[in-house]
Parts: sequence; structure tokens; C-alpha cells
Amino acid sequence: MKNSLKKIVIPIAGLGTRMLPATKAIPKEMLPVVDKPIIQYIVEEAVEAKFNEIILITHSSKASVENHFDKSFELEATLEKRVKRGLLKEIKSISRLNVTIQSIRQGEAKGLGHAILCSRSIVGDEPFAITLPDMLISSDKKSSSLLEMKNEFEISGDSSILLGKAKKTEISRYGIVKLSNKKNKRGFRKIEKIIEKPKMNIAPSSLFAAGRYIFTNKIFNSLSRVKPDKSGEIQLTDAIQDFLLNEEVICFNLKGDLFDCGDKLGYLKAIVHKAQEDEDIGKEFKKYIKKLSY
Ligand code: UTP
Repeated sequence: MKNSLKKIVIPIAGLGTRMLPATKAIPKEMLPVVDKPIIQYIVEEAVEAKFNEIILITHSSKASVENHFDKSFELEATLEKRVKRGLLKEIKSISRLNVTIQSIRQGEAKGLGHAILCSRSIVGDEPFAITLPDMLISSDKKSSSLLEMKNEFEISGDSSILLGKAKKTEISRYGIVKLSNKKNKRGFRKIEKIIEKPKMNIAPSSLFAAGRYIFTNKIFNSLSRVKPDKSGEIQLTDAIQDFLLNEEVICFNLKGDLFDCGDKLGYLKAIVHKAQEDEDIGKEFKKYIKKLSY
């Protein structure tokens, strides 16, 4: 296939300061949402979107994330002995996902843009996707936004960004875009501009980058061109703005609910949402929530 897309980069090397002290010794990606760590939802979404190669940008403190996707002989043997078949099947399936997982270290947390640049040697000269692990998407639709973005890239070769709609008070927390009036040949709206965390009064819209991106390899040139910001971090948003000067980027609208799990409130909302969907406890949990709201 001409624009075949296989690789997806998941940066997990950030410090997770908004979730301290929980994240002092535990990576925020390993915090559970009901009974699965956040990162497992993200990896499952990538596998469902038919990516074959996951590249984790990681840090020495995050080994538990790599371990989570590794085979656990001792645990499997114990579950086998205790005839816990359901659990055994679930545990085995985590390390047998139809995907390879490689990791590369970002020695110092020099920003999301810098983290993505660290993946260059593994991505090579291919196009790739990026997914931010703290943005958890829950949708009852059969096909995820990420899969739609991938399918469109494989047809048109156009880079894309998934957009959500921010509340006014949230605008200054995200990368906000200005849409162009132009569309690509297949009718998808193009993006004209993107600004990192603008003040509400200068934001060009309330549409924000919702943590799913697909780029041609040229994004690496932009990432290596942009300068660090005031806090010394290389921002992905600045590189996308540089990329937009010469390349076309289309947008997709988020389907379903998005939870920013890097933030206390978003994380708790994700738990409440997912607990209600849970096969074992969902019914009881809904009753409990109903009781609380009286
Ligand atoms: P965030 O800014 O949301 O995450 O970065 P953070 O820095 O871990 O959290 P806070 O703000 O201190 O609470 C978005 C994503 O980019 C990764 C993070 O791991 C997160 O998944 N990231 C960020 C890196 O991999 N390296 C960095 O230098 C910065």
C-alpha cells in the first residue's frame, strides 16, 4: 500500500506533576481506571486501529509500563494452579497483543516535542501516529477516531489531528487550532494554525488537539527546527505550526468522551465513566451513584 502506516509513538517520559504524590513512585500511565492501567486502554486502542508497532518514549522510572506488557511466567503459573481461568486468559492476552512494543529513553523531560524527536531512529523515514496516553477516549462507536485517521492517511497521504471542543475555562490548557476554509480532495477540513495554551481572549477557536495525530516523516524536520520555549521545553505544538507552513494537515472530530487523566478531575471522571460500563460491577456502581445524587 502506498501510504501504509504501521508505527505509533506513545510518549510516557513526562513527570506527571499534576498527579503528585500518587506519581512519585508510580508512573501516571500505570494508575488504574477500574481494573486496568491507563496505558492498557491506550495500547488496546492502537491495536484496534491496526497499528503493528508501538514505540514507547520512556524514562528510567517507568519500567513498570514495559513490564506490564511483558509475559509474567510466575503469575501465569500461579493462576493456572489455582484454576483462575478467566484471569489467566486476561493476563495472557496482555502480553500476546498482536503488536510489537519497543522503547527508547528520553534522558531528560525536555518537552513533548523533544520526546517525539527521540523516536526518530526507530520510526526511520516512515509516516507515523502519535497518541498521548493521558487522553483517554471512550466511545461506543465500532470504529475509533484513530482508525478513521489511519484509513484516511492510507488513502490520501494527508497528516491529521483529532480535535475536541474545549469549554471556555479549558482553552488555556491545550493546543488550540484555527480551521481553514479549504478542504482536502475527499472533503476533510484543513487546519490553518495551531497555538499552544492561548489565553481565552486571543484563542482562534475552542477546538483543541485531543491527543491523536498522524504525520508524514517531515514533522521530524520541524521538530528539530523549533527552539525550546521559555521553560526550556520543545513543544509539539510549535513543531506542528512550523509543519503547517509547508504541509497540509486535515482534522477529525472526536467521537465519544475524552478524559484528561493527567489531571485529578479528568482521571476521576474516567473512573466513574468506565466503572458504569464494567461487566461485573457496573450495575451496582450505577445504583450507588444514583443514591449519592439524591
Ligand atoms: P504532559 O505535560 O501532559 O505530561 O505531557 P507530564 O509532563 O507528565 O505531566 P505534568 O504536566 O507534569 O502533570 C503530555 C505527554 O507527553 C509526555 C508525557 O508523559 C505525557 O504523556 N511527555 C511530556 C514526555 O514524554 N516527555 C516530556 O518531556 C514531556
